[in-house]
Amino acid sequence: MSGFNRSVSFKQRAASIGSPRFTRKTWVSLLFCVLIVIGSLVSFFFVIGCGYLYVLPNLSHTFHDHEDRFSNFSGSDDTCDVFDGNWVLDDSYPLYNASECPFVEQGFNCLDNGRMDNDYINWRWKPNNCIIPRVNVQHVLEMLRNKRVVFVGDSMSRTQWESLICLLMTGLEDKNRVYEIDGNKITKQIRFLGVKFSSFNFTIEFYRSVFLVQHYWAPKHVPKRVRSTLKLDKLDDISGEWIDSDILIFNSGQWWVPGKLFGMGCYFQVGNSLKLGMPIDSAFRTTLNTWASWVESRINPKRTRVFFRTFEPSHWRNLTLWQCNVTKFPLLEAGGKDNSPFSDAVFEVVNNMTVPVTVLHITPMSAYRSDAHVGTWSDRPSLSDCSHWCLPGVPDMWNEIVISYLLGSNEPASTSASTGFNNV
Ligand SMILES: *[C@@H]1O[C@H](CO)[C@@H](O)[C@H](O)[C@H]1NC(C)=O
Ligand SMILES: *[C@@H]1O[C@H](CO)[C@@H](O)[C@H](O)[C@H]1NC(C)=O
Ligand SMILES: *[C@@H]1O[C@H](CO)[C@@H](O)[C@H](O)[C@H]1NC(C)=O
Ligand SMILES: *[C@@H]1O[C@H](CO)[C@@H](O)[C@H](O)[C@H]1NC(C)=O
Ligand SMILES: *[C@@H]1O[C@H](CO)[C@@H](O)[C@H](O)[C@H]1NC(C)=O
Ligand SMILES: *[C@@H]1O[C@H](CO)[C@@H](O)[C@H](O)[C@H]1NC(C)=O
Repeated sequence: MSGFNRSVSFKQRAASIGSPRFTRKTWVSLLFCVLIVIGSLVSFFFVIGCGYLYVLPNLSHTFHDHEDRFSNFSGSDDTCDVFDGNWVLDDSYPLYNASECPFVEQGFNCLDNGRMDNDYINWRWKPNNCIIPRVNVQHVLEMLRNKRVVFVGDSMSRTQWESLICLLMTGLEDKNRVYEIDGNKITKQIRFLGVKFSSFNFTIEFYRSVFLVQHYWAPKHVPKRVRSTLKLDKLDDISGEWIDSDILIFNSGQWWVPGKLFGMGCYFQVGNSLKLGMPIDSAFRTTLNTWASWVESRINPKRTRVFFRTFEPSHWRNLTLWQCNVTKFPLLEAGGKDNSPFSDAVFEVVNNMTVPVTVLHITPMSAYRSDAHVGTWSDRPSLSDCSHWCLPGVPDMWNEIVISYLLGSNEPASTSASTGFNNV
């Protein structure tokens, strides 16, 4: 039908060229022609659009971002689960350039390590029932003045530490006034790193404590295979350093695997007794209970805001062979990675505590991001890595959520909601 009309109208138009009589009939067919061309274009884009939506189901939401039917997430709103949502493309991301931030370790700067596809840096987490307000870096810098932010955990914590520093450095004119307190370089084994923002007199610190509890050489008279033990009832001996902080963010989980424990001759101990048969999940729970008692006895909730970040999903194809491939786009389905017994344990323990602790339930949101791991674009390109994350990337979003919680608890939501986004 449309093909027919088009040929007729073309003929008529050809006939009318050079003719002084521009009849009504010609007009109508011209109009038809235009409409058909528009119609074809619309359906062309519709088909393309559907293709995109099939590949990127979340893209559709980018068109609704500025609707006001959501309330801004203020960190205290019970009707809004900030961790229930999806990833949307947003060209205003990333929040910083890793090559311009001296605190991104080379191993996480995927673009600089040769990653060519860069779609992965443009995704933003969008909760279903609320909005994470845009980060206003100046506002956050002011909020942190004279404060101490402390991250405790494994390399995932270090990534989040790096991400927060880089995010905040975008708001500074004089980047030389940000430095590591002891002049140390970031390395994988280092136990303490502290970065001072001297213009604002605050520090962002990282303490490496992969198990959170004490790890010592094995006591005497134990079976030969026991080379070291985790004392599940004693928090890490550097824990004293974590107390006088204003914001305290924990994680643990990645190291609680047989290969990093029993495979290395590391077994569990409670009091003086060795617990050779103790399963890893109950050892993790015991540790969390030790941590919870420590928080309740040592942390002043009037000063310190405590967070615990849940398990960060990895995307290995074959963990035995250490094989994985980083995808170009986020997954459409979380594929079961949105749940983790480690995350469940955190909720169970925190729900039993008297001191308020905010659980950063990043497991489901990160589960989709098989595209955001460092893969072979790390400092060890011969090995693929589908555990760690590129920077900028997923850990930035974890920090944006932390910031929205901090703003929500410190000020009325309307104030935090009115902050703009000025610093990219
Ligand atoms: C990041 O900064 C570096 C150095 O200034 C520059 O070469 C690179 O193009 C920037 N990358 C992006 C993605 O803007
Ligand atoms: C810097 O912050 C610390 C608290 O972290 C405070 O004790 C000290 O007085 C502050 N210094 C200045 C110059 O404000
Ligand atoms: C991983 O590779 C090993 C060795 O080839 C094989 O035995 C195992 O079944 C693989 N696992 C998965 C989940 O494919
Ligand atoms: C993932 O790896 C498998 C096996 O090496 C390969 O067949 C597949 O094409 C890879 N997928 C992507 C998206 O690169
Ligand atoms: C929570 O507290 C209850 C009652 O004190 C106790 O029975 C339960 O084991 C605790 N749960 C966890 C996960 O610690
Ligand atoms: C949410 O915050 C944005 C600015 O960040 C503001 O424009 C918008 O009106 C706020 N929406 C609501 C419902 O408070």
